Amino acid sequence: MKHKTIIEPFRIKAIEPINMNSERERCKLLQMAHYNPFLLNSDDVIIDFLTDSGTSAMSAEQWGGIHVGDESYAGSRSWKKMENAVRNLTGMDYILPTHQGRAAERILYGTIGGPGKVFISNTHFDTTRANIEFRGAEAIDLPTPEAKDMSSDFPFKGDIDLEQLRITVQEKGPENIAGVIMTVTNNSGGGQPVSLTNLKEVRKICDEFNIILILDCCRVAENSYFIKHRENAYADFKYEDIAKMTFDLSDAAIMSSKKDALVNMGGFLALRNMELSQECTNLLIITEGFTTYGGLSGRDMEALAIGLKEVFEPDYLEYRIKSTEYLGRKLHELGVPIMLPVGGHAVYIDAKKLYPHIPVYEYPGQVLVCELYKLGGIRTVEIGSVMFGKYDDNNQLEPAPYELVRLAIPRRVYTQSHIEYVIETFEEILRRKEETSGLKIIEEPEFLRHFTAKFECLPNNNKVSI
Ligand code: F0G
Repeated sequence: MKHKTIIEPFRIKAIEPINMNSERERCKLLQMAHYNPFLLNSDDVIIDFLTDSGTSAMSAEQWGGIHVGDESYAGSRSWKKMENAVRNLTGMDYILPTHQGRAAERILYGTIGGPGKVFISNTHFDTTRANIEFRGAEAIDLPTPEAKDMSSDFPFKGDIDLEQLRITVQEKGPENIAGVIMTVTNNSGGGQPVSLTNLKEVRKICDEFNIILILDCCRVAENSYFIKHRENAYADFKYEDIAKMTFDLSDAAIMSSKKDALVNMGGFLALRNMELSQECTNLLIITEGFTTYGGLSGRDMEALAIGLKEVFEPDYLEYRIKSTEYLGRKLHELGVPIMLPVGGHAVYIDAKKLYPHIPVYEYPGQVLVCELYKLGGIRTVEIGSVMFGKYDDNNQLEPAPYELVRLAIPRRVYTQSHIEYVIETFEEILRRKEETSGLKIIEEPEFLRHFTAKFECLPNNNKVSI
């Protein structure tokens, strides 16, 4: 028999209670957090879809690993396990442990970047862009043109625009290109997968111009799932083998292990080039820690080595991708405008389309984020003009290309009934959408403003009486 219901392919062994607060309480809490859910206490959140990063539930085997972690400063047994797991997966010789992804970014982009240098990507994640720009280099996003149409079912919207890549390399001068970064899956571009066909073409361009190809591989298992199921040539390969083929095409890899290594903290930088690894190792030791632990404890490294294997288990990946897809499909059926096809780790909602009466300079994405918290205690994140908007010389907002809201789903944490609760909350969001009004930023930092910006509610001038 083929069942319709998606069940979690695990039993729950330990639980964490949720504090069920009321809408009235949440309205007050949101006001106190200046309409920025990053400033809420997690105890006040019912369903936390802020991120899939570091929020996974670990398996019994990983918790077992925690108890046998070797905390030696040098030559730790747990480091050997992690190094072997990473080396085996990436096929790269030089592995540098870091406390999370952005530490690896700081080390690599601090070494190969700097003023006058340019990085090109399918889409830079926000910390990637910030690390590049902080050192004075330029970060250029070249997503495939198919990604622009949010409703098309193009299977690999995470691809890079190959034609533009070639043109940009020639325009900027190949000697100024510090690297091409392929983010799999393309997080800021909607959690969309990158095809092996596209990666192979990127490899050819990088070879032609002698540019290094860096894989931001934090969701490489999820990307492998999509390749197997959408790219015919790879239908018969195991997920792990597809991931290995992905690494084979790259010169370096950065992983925030807080995603597809199923751990709460961890990361690494993997390199093929010895000289580059030596330069990076200097920075690693100065800023993270000795080469056999980076910013990690032995127990973290044990759990990471185990998680990197578990994430490729077919039952796990099937459940993971199918349950994200279920949420997306149900929202689509309700009439919520979402990015199609549904990505791997998250459902992305097109807030500009959901709230056509709220202009981009009143941040429709942030408005939806606030509504979701108010109505359901659901915490999400805006990926739009709050995150990526800039100001021109006249201090006018240059909006981001999209106003998305991401519902990022932690791995192995929420059950199917939590997902049903989220769907129900959206029914109410739709009922109240006309009476929803915009927001204004009243305080913001220079970098990564979405983390700490403060907002104020605007009156609803376009209120429609029903
Ligand atoms: N690259 C990508 C594609 C990411 O999604 C992230 C983190 C990083 C790099 C940085 O890794 O957090 O370990 O330092 N993404 C999280 C998110 C924060 O919510 O998507 P980190």
